[in-house]
Amino acid sequence: MELFNVYPIFDINIVKGEGSYVWDEKGNKYLDFYGGHAVISIGHSHPKYVERISDQVSKLGFYSNSVINELQKEVAKKLGKISGYNDYSLFLVNSGAEANENALKLASFYNGRTKVISFSKAFHGRTSLAVEVTDNPAIIAPINNNENVSFLPLNNINVFEEEIKKRDVCAVIIEGIQGVGGIKIPNNDFLQAVRKLCDETNTVLILDEIQSGYGRSGKFFAHQYAKIKPDLITVAKGIGNGFPLSGVLIHPKFNPTYGMLGTTFGGNHLACAAALAVLEVMEEESLVDNSKDMGEYLMNQLKDLPQIKEVRGRGLMIGLEFDTPIKDLRKKLLHEKKVFTGISGEKVLRLLPPLSITKNEADLFVKSLRETITEK
Ligand SMILES: Cc1ncc(COP(=O)(O)O)c(C=O)c1O
Repeated sequence: MELFNVYPIFDINIVKGEGSYVWDEKGNKYLDFYGGHAVISIGHSHPKYVERISDQVSKLGFYSNSVINELQKEVAKKLGKISGYNDYSLFLVNSGAEANENALKLASFYNGRTKVISFSKAFHGRTSLAVEVTDNPAIIAPINNNENVSFLPLNNINVFEEEIKKRDVCAVIIEGIQGVGGIKIPNNDFLQAVRKLCDETNTVLILDEIQSGYGRSGKFFAHQYAKIKPDLITVAKGIGNGFPLSGVLIHPKFNPTYGMLGTTFGGNHLACAAALAVLEVMEEESLVDNSKDMGEYLMNQLKDLPQIKEVRGRGLMIGLEFDTPIKDLRKKLLHEKKVFTGISGEKVLRLLPPLSITKNEADLFVKSLRETITEK
């Protein structure tokens, strides 16, 4: 059997990772400024993570959600404390799309409505509701297109107000920082106005913090820069440092009923061990602060490099917009300098390194990029 060929891949076989580095089967060492697509939060193969998961799997890898799972309760408690959302509750699932799927369902259960406001360039995943609120017609299958969604321009409060004032909108879904869309940040005043208008119209505000959350922005959640509290927050990626796990943080106004939501694998023992290791390491190593400091340092170093039109982002979620397409530059960085990076569209290089990077690693990245640009 062959693999279903949907990924345009690099011809590199990664077999090992440690901290901010990965190695291929030939022994080549790469600096990972892509974090496996914003997934690696505490660094590859962190000893505490390895120990926690190994210990858990030797005792119990999985049992179903039909019994008490103390590890889930521990994750909820710790996440509530670290994120500042103690009074919210947590529902655990397996992937980012699934978290958004459940958040949108909860919103619709709550106010009985079906329309959703999303934003241009938004990406929320590939399952039915998640892809329907994603602004990319190429990945929306006809069966997903139920015409429930309005895509509005980001940061345009007048257009937003006009739409939401119709009072028939179930939910607004917005990324803390748009990732796939090219590191676009919703303004603080825009988020504050959205919060206020959602309250006035009984619309549920969903913050998709799947890429921008868990410290990546230099605060635990990117929306915390705007000092607002969403009704639902979705998390994934960094939450398990690569172990598939995601969640929805749920405001106390939502009342759970048995069977309302459910999953076989979500929140299993092994996944929770991974999630706990991540939260413990984040706290012990002050990774949210490191993300903020390293992000500021990097952005300062990068802003004077030639050919870069704009450096934008927060913490370690950084976009470098170039004047010209950067496909070749990214390839050169990878094959010649052995540095992984991400891309958005044709001209934005996306940096999503582990939150644990050091100043030396930041310097190494800047040096590699500078040389690649000037040697071009
Ligand atoms: C903001 C955002 N939401 C949702 C998703 C979907 O997550 P997953 O691929 O785990 O379903 C992604 C993935 O890139 C994302 O960046």
